[in-house]
Amino acid sequence: MTWRASVVTLFPEMFPGPLGQSLAGKGLRDGRWAIDTLDIRGFATDRHRTVDDTPFGGGAGMVMRPDVVDAALAAADAAGPDRPAVYLTPRGRPLDQALVRDLAAGPGVVLLCGRYEGVDQRVIEARGLMEVSIGDYVLSGGEPAALVLLDACIRLLPGVMGAAESAAEESHANGLLEYPHYTRPADWQGRAVPPVLLSGHHAEVAKWRQTEAERATRERRPDLWAKHVTHDAAPGAMDG
Ligand code: ADE
Repeated sequence: MTWRASVVTLFPEMFPGPLGQSLAGKGLRDGRWAIDTLDIRGFATDRHRTVDDTPFGGGAGMVMRPDVVDAALAAADAAGPDRPAVYLTPRGRPLDQALVRDLAAGPGVVLLCGRYEGVDQRVIEARGLMEVSIGDYVLSGGEPAALVLLDACIRLLPGVMGAAESAAEESHANGLLEYPHYTRPADWQGRAVPPVLLSGHHAEVAKWRQTEAERATRERRPDLWAKHVTHDAAPGAMDG
């Protein structure tokens, strides 16, 4: 069955956007995944097509109405199999590769993109939406975050990525950042490729890559390194 994304948004023309290109675009044309959009404005009930209103309690900005968003989400549910519904928001749990793997392994996803100051809290609770953030910065809306989440899922779908092993070896697949890469020329502007990579000794290459992956993670992402040494390493092994 085709992995299906239904995107609930005020800007349906943003989809598939960049996901119509490259590997994701090929996967879309090949039927490995499918996407449909639901224009939230189409679910407004008044003649002005109102989707938002001023916040109770005062303050700046506008809040998306729960009744309108709920109707759009109900229509999204009807557009495919039973799928988890995700609301993209900087208040959400951080997106990581484990969540991406879970979503990619299911039948698809319903994505709610907010604009303005956000969505009325009651529709989030009533529908049990999973709130997800793509990082500690604020976008002008959830649409670019939805594209990021979809890209990360789509590349894991069967038949989308060319070489099967490129998904298994890369950054975060094993909880580490990836080792650095080199190609020809072997000497460029006086910079040599690490000699072990030219040696033809596969075991030595693998050992060097593991060491460099660990070094990069320790130096750049102490948060990931701490998880790696507590979850994955044998007691006393490879710490520091
Ligand atoms: N909407 C606005 N900012 C966002 C973020 N960082 N992650 C997910 N959705 C968002």
